[in-house]
Amino acid sequence: MQPLQRRQAIIVLDFGSQYSRLITRRVRECHVYSELVPANTTLAQLQQNTHLDIKGFILSGGPASVYDEQAPTCDPAILHCGLPVLGICYGMHLLAHQLGGHVAPASGQREYGPATLETLADSTGDPRYFRIFESIDASLAQTYPLDQPVAAKPVRVPVWMSHGDSVDKLPNGFKVLACTDSNPVTAIANEQGIVGLQFHPEVTHTPQGKKIMQNFLYRICDCEPTWTTGSVIEEAVEQIRQRVGKERVICGLSGGVDSAVAALLVHRAIGNQLTCVFVDTGCLRTGEREQVIETFARHLHIPLVVVDAHKRFLARLADVIDPEQKRKIIGEEFIRVFEEEAARLAVQGDSITFLAQGTLYPDVIESTSHDTAATATRIKTHHNVGGLPEEMALKLVEPLRMLFKDEVREIGVALGLPEDWVWRHPFPGPGLAIRIIGAVDEERLEKLRAADAIVIEEIQRAGIYRELGQAFAVLTPLQSVGVMGDGRTYANVIAVRAVTTGDFMTADWARLSPDLLARISHRLVNEVPGVNRVVYDITSKPPATIEWE
Ligand code: XMP
Repeated sequence: MQPLQRRQAIIVLDFGSQYSRLITRRVRECHVYSELVPANTTLAQLQQNTHLDIKGFILSGGPASVYDEQAPTCDPAILHCGLPVLGICYGMHLLAHQLGGHVAPASGQREYGPATLETLADSTGDPRYFRIFESIDASLAQTYPLDQPVAAKPVRVPVWMSHGDSVDKLPNGFKVLACTDSNPVTAIANEQGIVGLQFHPEVTHTPQGKKIMQNFLYRICDCEPTWTTGSVIEEAVEQIRQRVGKERVICGLSGGVDSAVAALLVHRAIGNQLTCVFVDTGCLRTGEREQVIETFARHLHIPLVVVDAHKRFLARLADVIDPEQKRKIIGEEFIRVFEEEAARLAVQGDSITFLAQGTLYPDVIESTSHDTAATATRIKTHHNVGGLPEEMALKLVEPLRMLFKDEVREIGVALGLPEDWVWRHPFPGPGLAIRIIGAVDEERLEKLRAADAIVIEEIQRAGIYRELGQAFAVLTPLQSVGVMGDGRTYANVIAVRAVTTGDFMTADWARLSPDLLARISHRLVNEVPGVNRVVYDITSKPPATIEWE
């Protein structure tokens, strides 16, 4: 068997900044692999992963002040191992503090938001220190007099600040590279590549941020841009082959992009040793089942078993109103159907020993993060095909475990998944059952399916489907009086929800145009029997959630 190559990596230590994941994403966008780990991870722990060739570290920002009693610190071995380190904001304060410098707590002169960074003339001349700003173009903020000689021109670039503290005494061997109007120490570096930045290069408000990151990666850490869609696929395929060998794998398709891409990768690796199972719960959207069959069986030629289980799901859901109860029932029933299918498939051939699923990197971070486990409360019981393994005696294959959603989409495209699949809005595992407020039955499902199709159709027609994180209809149990033709009606209210969001943890209601809302409303009332009123949800998350249930 071919040994897997060690992969160049940048390790991001998470000190609790809202931007920590973004830093990891930014590094990967520069085609260098990056992992986010809790702040207290030690160098020795990191070195246990022999697949990684660690080229440098980034210490994220964070809400603490280095002098706080509970302030998180970094394993000193990381700062002394000779590899480059980039400290951003709190990360800069921390490395200065731990290496013998001093940090001044905020003294009223806090700097939040946009600022202009200016490099200092005496730092620009020494390339050993200055690599982080090398070849940074002067931006529109460049305001030096035109008659100044070129060599002495400082670089002035807009940057994004968000912290009160600042370094006021440098550790030995460091130089100040840049300042802003209110902060004389905005960037520091030493000769061997330990760099501190008071501003945030990872946010788009720092227009030269990507270039600064690239400088750190390519000029300081000597990374090569090898983390590409092609290399990710190749490596994933090799890993799957090594893990699975000649055994059989089952994969539950949910209709979403993650399980689809996981299945595609596994299929590329082991071909027909994979069987996909798609369970029709009866709570799917219009045309969903047909689309899955068309795409997977006909287009991608992946062995697919479709189980029509809608009767048993609807029988168990009859008269259930409580949304948590609905989720529980659907989750349990799903597992049962899945197990039955696995057993049936095993009778037809060798037994199945692996389950493939589309767990993503953010889920992995979430479950290992130092603070989320303690602070997170259960808002609702999520059910998806990922809920299966605890209940089943199958080993797992999770080829997307180290990938962000955007990377998964790119891989999907590269593996031939049609564009409209790749950009699909997420759909909850329990499906339309939780978008019907109150009891679920065939008639209500029909009504909601028709309404949902109209909402999506109009949004697609308006050309804004991809701009939205999610859009859908909700069937409320509320009935109200209306008038149609000359007659009085007493019919249901449909709620329309459309949100913009990056990570689905927070979301804002989408400012759909009044014309689009009017078209949606008009069609819903005219085309869906039993609906006489439409409302638009104008609540963000938080305080609301995206789904109604
Ligand atoms: P909420 O409603 O919690 O939803 O703001 C956040 C995102 O998660 C999706 N969602 C689910 N996805 N299984 C899933 O796979 C579930 O049980 C589930 N419940 C909610 C929701 O559609 C939104 O994208």
